[in-house]
Amino acid sequence: MEKYKYYNLKNVGEKVELYGWVARARNLGGLIFIDLRNRSGIVQVVVRPENEFYNLASELKSEYVIRVQGIIVERESKNLNLASGEIEIDLTNLELINKSKDLPFTITDDTTALEDTRLKYRYLDLRRDNLKNILVLRNNITFAARKFFNSLDFLEVETPILCKSTPEGARDYLVPSRVNKGKFYALPQSPQIFKQLLMVSGVERYYQIAKCFRDEDLRADRQPEFTQIDVEMSFVDEEGVMEVGEQLVASIFKETKGIDIKLPLMRMKYDEAIDKYGSDKPDLRFGMEIKDITEVFKETDFTVFKNVYEEKGIINAIVVKNAADKYSRKDLDKLTEFVKTYKATGLAYLKFQDEISGSIFKAMKEAEIEELKKVLEIEARDLVLIVSGKRNIVKASLGALRCKLAKELELIDKNDYKLLWVTDFPSFEWSEEENRFMACHHPFTMPKDEDVDKLLTDKANCYSKAYDIVINGYEAGGGSIRIHDEKVQETMFKALELTEEKIESKFGFFVEALKYGCPPHGGFALGLDRLTMLLAGTDNIRDVIAFPKTASASDLMSECPNTVDQMQLDDVGLKLK
Ligand code: AMO
Repeated sequence: MEKYKYYNLKNVGEKVELYGWVARARNLGGLIFIDLRNRSGIVQVVVRPENEFYNLASELKSEYVIRVQGIIVERESKNLNLASGEIEIDLTNLELINKSKDLPFTITDDTTALEDTRLKYRYLDLRRDNLKNILVLRNNITFAARKFFNSLDFLEVETPILCKSTPEGARDYLVPSRVNKGKFYALPQSPQIFKQLLMVSGVERYYQIAKCFRDEDLRADRQPEFTQIDVEMSFVDEEGVMEVGEQLVASIFKETKGIDIKLPLMRMKYDEAIDKYGSDKPDLRFGMEIKDITEVFKETDFTVFKNVYEEKGIINAIVVKNAADKYSRKDLDKLTEFVKTYKATGLAYLKFQDEISGSIFKAMKEAEIEELKKVLEIEARDLVLIVSGKRNIVKASLGALRCKLAKELELIDKNDYKLLWVTDFPSFEWSEEENRFMACHHPFTMPKDEDVDKLLTDKANCYSKAYDIVINGYEAGGGSIRIHDEKVQETMFKALELTEEKIESKFGFFVEALKYGCPPHGGFALGLDRLTMLLAGTDNIRDVIAFPKTASASDLMSECPNTVDQMQLDDVGLKLK
């Protein structure tokens, strides 16, 4: 007999046996109604006063485990919110299998329990339909991915969890070795090096649903351990990898949500993404592009803009349509505080109502206003927000501001998915901290053919064969073509100012492998958690992981991390400071 199945009117008259939990038991005018919950959902069981199990049924409490036998009958008052709401089960047999303690919170989808309480009792929280449905969705995503890869001859290969530090750029989680005292394994930040070695081995098409570990500051879309759908292919160029990447994503959307994604996906170069959206993961579900208005102020008397102009900074704006009367002075002060968190020095504004007003209105000449109206295509009731200063600060702050405003003004259609590839990432980024250029991705990322010669001479203008797949403002995945040429690799190391000793100790074994007939290769990794978030419509990554960590990287249920016995420390030769 099926224990996980939806029943409906078609099943009326069938005898059924169900196992599950009491979601709710009510006594209404002599009739007892039990909402029985199991993986298939909830079904109502009715127990009449003359039933021999009536007394047992009246003892049932929430989350008791029961076995029910009965006959499916049509319900008089139907509940159309429930998949099985047109029928109920007329009880013929009831067994109480197990009792439950009083619950720390009630198990309903609209629970108001604090997240910390829910995380402490995660196994109870997972009984809620909305979390259970996400587990199902996640399973369907990996199933769709495996189906896709198998149809294209990819081989799933597992790679080690105890390994040598990988160069993804975050901090490693370290594991002390008992056998080799004083030495450490690192947990993989990704299977990057191993999947490239598999290409040297001739695997040609690899994939893995891979656990990755990164000790970095956590955000709403970041966990210390997360999962990638990881891919690598030989004898391909950027086009070949991106084609497989977008087909994979499209087939996951189709199989799990029935959504058709139009291929090929839109592409946007990194520089354009930063220019127009202030982000390498632009959310294209709404407009509000960033516009450059530096030249409007070339003869300005307004000291702030004048200084920026003279120091070769930029002045940029976003136009918020129809919002002039929606933002009070106080609201604008809050927006100013917001952009300051991105290091902007301030936020200027203009409101185009019956009259024009705003923080910089008095400092502007009539001609400047006219020019601005033209450049920004201003219409009545528009609000214009302006940031000036260094390019990276201006772009980042306006980029974040446009996303914040779109949320506040509810400009985003929740059912809309906007996917694109962001391509042509710079090879290097300047690190203020280290006062040198660092690799934007990892040191094995292939530069664009035309930039190979610039690696040592013009780092600021080197671009790489790297690409990210962006969905609704999230970096859902990314990858690159790798360097397979020893000479290019050497130059890259030189460009990154890595010494021979450092190269040898960090990835000597890998560089050695590249010398034994390494095929041209490339790949990418999708963030499974982020993809699940997007498809589940949640912006909390903890919702899509069965047993997640908090923002301070701990598990409230098992209370981990925790201290260990002195003996365990002695075993691995460690002494706490
Ligand atoms: P990258 O570091 O861009 O690339 O990671 C790939 C994708 O993994 C997801 N992701 C995360 N998800 C949750 N929590 C985190 N802390 C986290 N960090 C990353 C993102 C991201 O796009 N080896 C390369 C891939 C390659 O070049 O093939 C890599 O790991 O969705």
